[in-house]
Amino acid sequence: MNILTFRSQEELNKAGAGIITGLVQTNPRAVLGLATGGTPVDIYEELVEAHRQQLVSFAKATTFNLDEYVGLDRNHPASYYSFMQEHLFGYVNAAPERCHIPDGMASSLEEECRRYDALLEQAGQIDLQLLGLGHNGHIGFNEPDHALRSGTHVVKLQEQTREANARFFDKPEQVPTHAITMGVGTILKAKMILLVVRGSDKAEIVARALQGPITTECPASLLQTHPHVVVLLDSEAGGRLA
Ligand code: F6R
Repeated sequence: MNILTFRSQEELNKAGAGIITGLVQTNPRAVLGLATGGTPVDIYEELVEAHRQQLVSFAKATTFNLDEYVGLDRNHPASYYSFMQEHLFGYVNAAPERCHIPDGMASSLEEECRRYDALLEQAGQIDLQLLGLGHNGHIGFNEPDHALRSGTHVVKLQEQTREANARFFDKPEQVPTHAITMGVGTILKAKMILLVVRGSDKAEIVARALQGPITTECPASLLQTHPHVVVLLDSEAGGRLA
């Protein structure tokens, strides 16, 4: 595991975007696993800028988002579909038919999970999986539990997760109770994982995830078993590392 700590957000963002653009420059058909939430926003902004400067093209890339809320129309402003349009897809030349996000409004969520897994299977391995980290150690929406699921599945969000995401909704009670998420098996199958974490409120979970015991009670701790993880931290998030 390669842990890099940055003193400035700008350097962190440039490093994160640089890893992604470098991959897509050398492998234009790269399969990217993408995250939403506050953490990747500024990295996506750097990607948009790199694309504007014609330094990178996403025309041949394929993308898979980690998760989507259950019961939100994709045009809802807080859906992850809207998030991706607003922060990345609306400004780069990625082909919409190759940008995949689970459909949280599917009439059969079980079938939607199988459809998503089939698409992932068809695409082959994810070349780079971008991840943020939940305060409780979740990756994607794989919440701490006594057992974790390998493939795409429906998950009940923990209250702590709903509270953390309430900032994206008008009222806290509007945060959906369930989401569809890629499973940890799919995440760990990626060739490379880029975990990005910012802020002192994540310092403790960063230490547990990267240096604590490997346990399903901290899903991100499973990343310790992966052969190629790059972690980008700001100095606050890295503050409790040994
Ligand atoms: C988002 C996702 C989540 C977030 C995590 C951190 O697609 O899968 O695991 O990465 O909840 O969220 P932020 O970045 O908002 O702190």
